[in-house]
Amino acid sequence: MFNSLGASTLSRSGTIASELIPVDSFQAKVLVVDDHPSSRMTAVALLSVEGYEVLEADSGTAGLKRVIEGNPDLILLDVMMPGMDGFEVCRRLKEDEQTRLIPVVFITALNDKRSRIMGIEAGGDDFLTKPFDRLELSARVKSLVRQKRLNEDLDHAEQVLFSMARAVESRDPNTGDHCERLVAMGKAFGEYIQLPREDIRNLMWGGYLHDIGKVGIPDAVLLKKGTFTPEEREIMNGHVLIGEKICKPLRTMRGVIPIIRYHHERWDGSGYPDGLVGDAIPYLAQIFQILDIYDALTSERPYKRAFTPDEALELISQETEKGWRNPQLIEQFMAFIKQSVLPNQ
Ligand code: SIN
Ligand code: FE
Repeated sequence: MFNSLGASTLSRSGTIASELIPVDSFQAKVLVVDDHPSSRMTAVALLSVEGYEVLEADSGTAGLKRVIEGNPDLILLDVMMPGMDGFEVCRRLKEDEQTRLIPVVFITALNDKRSRIMGIEAGGDDFLTKPFDRLELSARVKSLVRQKRLNEDLDHAEQVLFSMARAVESRDPNTGDHCERLVAMGKAFGEYIQLPREDIRNLMWGGYLHDIGKVGIPDAVLLKKGTFTPEEREIMNGHVLIGEKICKPLRTMRGVIPIIRYHHERWDGSGYPDGLVGDAIPYLAQIFQILDIYDALTSERPYKRAFTPDEALELISQETEKGWRNPQLIEQFMAFIKQSVLPNQ
């Protein structure tokens, strides 16, 4: 879900998400299971600096025991350990109803593809390579802890949808930690314009789920580099309808569906899927689209560098002049970004 590129983009472009939304890290507990004292200490030191409470274990068996005693929010798990290895520890945790929701991040050597495959088979949630990159570690831990908190509040069917959305994100070369930042920005901007709580929740869920329909887009289109043919464009545009269909059966998704279906409409009617004009576009979809675009602009993508907040706002305002966005909403968004990114100016 996360990659180091995303993490460094965050700091370089001054993207607001990480600054505005603390992850309650002071409350989050991370268990580090590693038989090598030196690498365990490195992880412990880095996480402590970030404000996490850190538990330690020096073997697989001790790790399992610590999980039961300490109920951590996340586990960093070394793969190669004498006695019970990391894969077995992970399998046991994922089989147990009490512990299966705790995210497990495997610590592997760089390019150890076999371990990664075995880690996925054992039910691992993510990977980190040694030596640790501080930003990468911090970004992954933050994202997974947030995800776990979310999962705790969801029923089983909702969890399936969120897992699906994560799987899509890992398939899509353009996203990185895009969804995670959208969730944070949705909350921050929603609060800024004083939306009702329910709307803020829907904006945040939209952050995770808006592109879930990409699950139905073939690799040949989703992963294509370069411009789409008209047929490919049509297939790609179908992601909003597929997404709506996937989420429709769930009553709790009712407020998110307008975001999923309409996040590519444009104010002047030139968007898709329905070519809705102006306020016929559901308000939350209008808002969400702005966040989606701003984050895409300020992030590095395979085909472009990360624009600065100022450059991004300039591009967005050109698009608004073309008629693509709600000018009033854009004005509020610009004020929000200016006070978030440049709070003292
Ligand atoms: C997206 O929905 O993330 C992008 C779709 C597109 O490339 O048109
Ligand atoms: Fe989309």
